Amino acid sequence: MTHFLDIHKTDPQALRSMIDSARAMKMARDGLPKAAPDDDLPLAGRMVALIFEKPSTRTRVSFDVGARQMGAETLVLSGSEMQLGHGETIADTARVLSRYVDLIMIRTFEEEALLELADHATVPVINGLTNRTHPCQIMADVMTYEEHRGPIVGKKVVWCGDGNNVFASFAHAAGQFGFDLTFSGPETLDPEREFLELARSKGSRVEIVRDPASAVSGADLVVTDTWVSMHDSQTTKERRHNQLRPYQVNEELMAHAKDDALFMHCLPAHRDEEATSAVMDGPHSVILDEAENRLHAQKAIMRWCLGV
Ligand code: CP
Ligand code: NVA
Repeated sequence: MTHFLDIHKTDPQALRSMIDSARAMKMARDGLPKAAPDDDLPLAGRMVALIFEKPSTRTRVSFDVGARQMGAETLVLSGSEMQLGHGETIADTARVLSRYVDLIMIRTFEEEALLELADHATVPVINGLTNRTHPCQIMADVMTYEEHRGPIVGKKVVWCGDGNNVFASFAHAAGQFGFDLTFSGPETLDPEREFLELARSKGSRVEIVRDPASAVSGADLVVTDTWVSMHDSQTTKERRHNQLRPYQVNEELMAHAKDDALFMHCLPAHRDEEATSAVMDGPHSVILDEAENRLHAQKAIMRWCLGV
């Protein structure tokens, strides 16, 4: 079964072919209305289930629109309205859904739920974000970087802020796509060492630099994300904000990056917290291209999963 569970679990050649396919599909649709079908309808006759146990705007809409452009039908399901994990085991839900649909995308909390679903489904499963990783996002981010600046291999990517699920998928991508990665944030919010070690073992230069200005120095790409993720307790909000404030991406910090550096944020953003509006709407920012490329990258991921 060809699941898309994480970037480090997917062969680098397959990842590269997905980025190429995403770019080709994007170019082929240039100027077409959003609801116009793709020329070749590779998912005609397929049913795609999109399960959300957490809120989502981009993932929900881009998977739904992308699947439809390729000719599929979609079912958008909320975890709370299903039996998933409470009325029955996740394994049973996986076995049953596999009798109705051809592909399952799930956004959930614990990584174990995703893995259990994938273990027991007889159709491909795609990770639409867990507490631990967000691989679809980083496929779109790699695509976006390369669209603007060419190959990402050997580039310096700097993450400022919380060592969260989106950072983790950047670390996975560093190893698979061959870029260097610097994490800059407070020690209390460091990413799991495992993510850093894996990228290092594949030859990426991976550093932790506490001073944000030194970290960003010479960066090709600066990335941040919300200071409080959906799975984080709101009771930690004030402490996190106090710890993360020095890592805000503002114009002063961006001035330490290369002149042609890009700025990314997966969104949703808390403007003027993790990044200022001046940066988000400024000349380095490619946040809307990132959001758009979720659509194209995920179409490529769905095709790869289904082998079409
Ligand atoms: N970036 C991202 O995954 O956004 P949503 O939470 O809106 O899906
Ligand atoms: N780190 C964020 C990403 C949202 C797309 C979260 O998990 O809430």
